[in-house]
Amino acid sequence: MPAKILVLNGPNLNMLGTREPAVYGHETLADVHALIQARAGELGVEADCRQSNGEGELVTWIQQARGDATAIIINAGAYSHTSIAIPDALRAAELPVYEVHLSNIYQRESFRHHSHISAVAVAVLCGLGPDGYLYALTAAAKAAD
Ligand code: DQA
Repeated sequence: MPAKILVLNGPNLNMLGTREPAVYGHETLADVHALIQARAGELGVEADCRQSNGEGELVTWIQQARGDATAIIINAGAYSHTSIAIPDALRAAELPVYEVHLSNIYQRESFRHHSHISAVAVAVLCGLGPDGYLYALTAAAKAAD
């Protein structure tokens, strides 16, 4: 059975490509998912890529990953800075968590400098654009090997 890595994107990341391209780049979420799937194929792992604007739906998917997925890669968007429910669910899932942000959140407004998810993550990749997901996927696949 190949390692199965759940890749979650949170609110407004469905708007990639048109949303503040100077900050988030020109790739759409479909482009990012295609890059992830290509790398997953190279690594011999399965990537299950999903996006939701809803905190509750993200929590439900994280709960369902317990016992099913090998690792979770998550860019929770603005929920990274506000949600307690998402890190609670991640803790309960008992899976390695890789946190990704396209932008360097530390170079931005101070309210973006703290993420509640970082405390439950094995690694945080930010400021690398879509490559952050690919590095996280590589790390998750290596850890599952
Ligand atoms: C983001 C950074 C967050 O502060 C922001 O709310 C997002 C995207 C990023 O990928 O850089 O929606 O997570």
